[in-house]
Amino acid sequence: MKRRTIGSVNTGPLGFFDSGVGGLTVVRAVQELLPGEDILYLGDTARLPYGSKSPETIRQFADEDARFLIARGVKAIVVACNTATAHALPSLRQQYRVPILGVIEAGVDAALANPNAERIGIIATRGTIGSHAYQHALALRRTGLIIHGQAAPLLVPLVEENWIDHPATAMVLKTYLDPLVEKGIDTLMLACTHYPLLIPLLREILPDDVCLVDSATTCAEHLQKELVNLNLLAPAGNEGKLEIHLTDLSEEFEVLARRFLKKAPGRIHRAVLGG
Ligand code: DGL
Repeated sequence: MKRRTIGSVNTGPLGFFDSGVGGLTVVRAVQELLPGEDILYLGDTARLPYGSKSPETIRQFADEDARFLIARGVKAIVVACNTATAHALPSLRQQYRVPILGVIEAGVDAALANPNAERIGIIATRGTIGSHAYQHALALRRTGLIIHGQAAPLLVPLVEENWIDHPATAMVLKTYLDPLVEKGIDTLMLACTHYPLLIPLLREILPDDVCLVDSATTCAEHLQKELVNLNLLAPAGNEGKLEIHLTDLSEEFEVLARRFLKKAPGRIHRAVLGG
């Protein structure tokens, strides 16, 4: 995929990065909403997970990921990882001129689009919860909210093992969610890119009146608005292509990617960062 420039409008691909496979839930939502967009996806599989790393390390990894995409002429970057958004979005935006979107702003806007949202639960990696990025973004937009953050580090491996229907996953989810339900949450933010795969199970476990907000669909809608505002939508009639680059290649990724994308991922390339 090469950068193409028509007049002053950059029609290069959209760049996405994540620590691994999770960001493909965002890619899938974007492909559904914006099928004409070419997508260049970088999964930093050699260094995952990001969710348990320190803020400094995550910022360094995110910087290298963004450079990889910028060097390939992307017209905008989507940080398709909650942990990287939480720790690195401000520094990336300061450093690079290309438009950079994260997954937090869109999720927070979507949660607060409900005027009755008052008690908000957040589940995410330890890194995302510890950053307080969601808690701050919510509190800045609406005063008086009662916010409960719950780190849920066991969920990413359970989703990757495809234990979605395994009783162990229901038990783990209930253990994480019971304290939030007891506190009477009306909204649950799924602040990790793996969690959309758990939505059917979450619906079974949670009371019916709890609203679910996920990073993938909310980010896709936000991206669409931004591309329109910036006049960066792909030309009409373009058939969007997906190119995946990984810092570590494994057969397992292809199996996972098929589940996250709900289709075959196509050819996967080896990425060398910093080159
Ligand atoms: N993609 C990460 C996130 O959304 C979860 C996986 C990881 O810890 O690297 O926070």
